[in-house]
Amino acid sequence: MRNLLITALCLVVALPGVAQTVSPKPSRLGLCAACHGETGVAVMPGAPNLAGQRLDYLRAALKHYRDGSRDVPVMRAAIGPLSDAELDAVARWYSVQIPAAAKL
Ligand code: HEC
Repeated sequence: MRNLLITALCLVVALPGVAQTVSPKPSRLGLCAACHGETGVAVMPGAPNLAGQRLDYLRAALKHYRDGSRDVPVMRAAIGPLSDAELDAVARWYSVQIPAAAKL
């Protein structure tokens, strides 16, 4: 009985961390979180949710903002200071987040 209790307690403590361990939180996430939220659920009106979006789609979108073929000044400015590796890290992070239910 005591072991069962300890096992249950360990599960409760460990579970909230599971999503975080899939991919480490990128160091530059704060630059994006102001609009897209830490978990990819947008906190600014007009900013899209990114949670659960396909990794290749996110990567392509970031590339298009960077080279100007998708000409959105706010996104160009936001990704300007990030290296390719840092952009890849935030794209990976957002792709493994759990999407929010639509608010209609
Ligand atoms: C000031 C607010 C703001 C910040 C900061 C910001 N974004 Fe955005 N982001 C937007 C807006 C607004 C759009 C929609 C632009 C458009 O119409 O193409 C967007 C679009 C995107 C898209 C395309 C989504 C899609 O469905 O096509 C990606 C990917 C993205 N942002 C990633 C990031 C990342 C990564 C960062 C951090 C480096 C970041 N954004 C920072 C406002 C922001």
